[in-house]
Amino acid sequence: MKVSEALDTRLTCRAFKDTPVPRETIERLLETAKRAPSGGNLQPWHVYVVGGQELADFKKIIAEKLPDNPFGEGTEYQIYPPSLKEPYKARRFKCGEDMYASIGVTREDKAGRLTQFAKNFDFFGAPVAMFFSIDRTMQEGQWSDLGMFIQSIMLLAREYGLDTCPQEAWAIWYKTVGEFVGIPDEQMLFCGLGLGYRDEDAPINSLRTDRAPLEEYASFKGI
Ligand SMILES: Cc1cc2nc3c(=O)[nH]c(=O)nc-3n(C[C@H](O)[C@H](O)[C@H](O)COP(=O)(O)O)c2cc1C
Repeated sequence: MKVSEALDTRLTCRAFKDTPVPRETIERLLETAKRAPSGGNLQPWHVYVVGGQELADFKKIIAEKLPDNPFGEGTEYQIYPPSLKEPYKARRFKCGEDMYASIGVTREDKAGRLTQFAKNFDFFGAPVAMFFSIDRTMQEGQWSDLGMFIQSIMLLAREYGLDTCPQEAWAIWYKTVGEFVGIPDEQMLFCGLGLGYRDEDAPINSLRTDRAPLEEYASFKGI
C-alpha cells in the first residue's frame, strides 16, 4: 500500500467488528512505528496494549462508573484551549454536527448524543485498546513526537487492513486507566486508541470529515 493510500483511507473508525487482531500483528505494527522520528531521538512514547478478557474486565469497570459520572475523573491536561478561537471553534463544531448527522442524532437529542459519546468507553467495539502516555517532564516538542508515533501506527494499520480510533476521551478516566494498565506516576496518559476491523455497514463510518484548502494553512515564498 502506498503511503498516500494509507493517508487517504485512514479515518476515525467509530464502529468495529469483533474480529480479533493477532498479537503478532500488533507487535509488528508497534515495531515498525518505532521508526517514527523524535527530536534528539528521545522516543518519548509509551504504549499499553489491552485485549481479550482483560479488555472486557476493564470495560466493565468503566461501565460501572459511567452512569454516576459520564464525564469521568476530570483531565490532567486541557484537551482543547479553554476558549477555542476561530477558525478552530467552527471546525470543531462542524465535525461534531457532521458526526451526529451521520447517525441521525439531532442537536436537541441530548440523550442520543450522550449515548454516542459513551461509546468511546466501549472503544466503539474495537477488540484491541491502546493507551499512550508520556513522561511528565516532557514538553510540547515531545508531545508532538508522541503524535507522530501514533500517526505512524494509524497509517501502518491501514496496510494490515485495520482501522483505528484515536481517543482523547480516555483522558477523563486517567486514574482508572492508569491503575488498570499500570502507568507509573511519572507518566501522564495522553489518549487511548481502538484498533480493529472497520464495520463497513455502520453509518457512522461513512463520515468523511472536511479539510481546509491548502491556501488556509500553507504559504509559499520563493518556490
Ligand atoms: C489525538 C486525537 C484524539 C481524538 N479523540 C477522539 C475521541 O475521544 N473520540 C472521538 O470520537 N474522536 C476522537 N478523535 C477523532 C477526531 O475527531 C478526528 O480525527 C477528526 O474529526 C478528523 O476526522 P478523521 O480522523 O476521520 O479524518 C481524536 C483524534 C485525535 C487525533
